[in-house]
Amino acid sequence: MTKSVNLSVDIGGLKINNPITTASGTYGFGREYENYMDISKLGAIMVKGLTLRPRKGNKTPRVVETASGMLNSVGLENPGVEYFVENELPYLKKKGVTVIANISGNSIEEYCEMSRILDKTSCDAIEMNISCPNVKQGGVAFGTDKDVVLKITKKVRKYLTKPLIVKLSPNVTDIKEIAVSAEKGGADGISLINTLLGMAVDIKTRRPILRNNVGGLSGPAVKPVAIRMVWQVKSAVNIPIIGMGGISSVEDIIEFLLVGASAVSIGTANFINPKISLELLEELEKYLIENDIRDVNELVGQIKIY
Ligand SMILES: Cc1cc2nc3c(=O)[nH]c(=O)nc-3n(C[C@H](O)[C@H](O)[C@H](O)COP(=O)(O)O)c2cc1C
Repeated sequence: MTKSVNLSVDIGGLKINNPITTASGTYGFGREYENYMDISKLGAIMVKGLTLRPRKGNKTPRVVETASGMLNSVGLENPGVEYFVENELPYLKKKGVTVIANISGNSIEEYCEMSRILDKTSCDAIEMNISCPNVKQGGVAFGTDKDVVLKITKKVRKYLTKPLIVKLSPNVTDIKEIAVSAEKGGADGISLINTLLGMAVDIKTRRPILRNNVGGLSGPAVKPVAIRMVWQVKSAVNIPIIGMGGISSVEDIIEFLLVGASAVSIGTANFINPKISLELLEELEKYLIENDIRDVNELVGQIKIY
């Protein structure tokens, strides 16, 4: 008889069938992956970052591979929140997948307006990105000051009946105080980390490789930073954490769970293997069975600190 394990988790009121989600900006609106896998089996999809109006994003080149990772300066290219609601969300809901809408704005008012629009739709939760390093206005500027994080979270909260997950930037000195502000402002969960600000130079031309000069570093290179931050935030807040940053194996997932993530997100690894998220889900289930762990939640925060 095959043993059964519980994989379902609760992210601040958002109940998902398993803890594997796909990270915003690395999974489009799901359609791109449909030929590779049954997307409805994912815990949730975090869709590409949405803005109030459509955005073309930054000039190219805007991605470059680095040692154990990549830099991107895509700059939130997207068709706008209304297009998403009319054309992409119905498709995803028909597929039966849990949808977390990721939002970015140039002002607090824009975040509020998008929340008002999305709260009336069938999307399941909102992930508020206050951590994009690739836009001139807003983005990471909102996520690096604890008072601004408190203010924006409080205001956006008023427009939402759906769970609000705040996505934090690793480009800060004290991640704990930022997370505490998000919790105080009414966040139901925290996502971390977004990308780390980085740069790469072409020594022949002596120019930055990215047209934007700088970009966000992601992939295995950032994992130790992400693990450290999830661990720190877990000790500072009581709301659940979705951990991400460089996950590419089941061992990585277990690491994130042990330091306190209740769920995880797969990002850059999707570009190397588009099926990886569901492969890791299978491996996670196998790991739990083999180690006689009946419920994935039993692993959360179980690190034994010295
Ligand atoms: C090409 C690219 C685009 C991204 N776009 C977004 C975005 O629109 N919104 C967002 O919140 N995060 C965005 N991210 C950040 C990822 O969601 C994730 O937080 C980060 O890449 C760390 O995870 P990873 O190392 O597994 O990729 C993007 C990352 C990449 C690589």
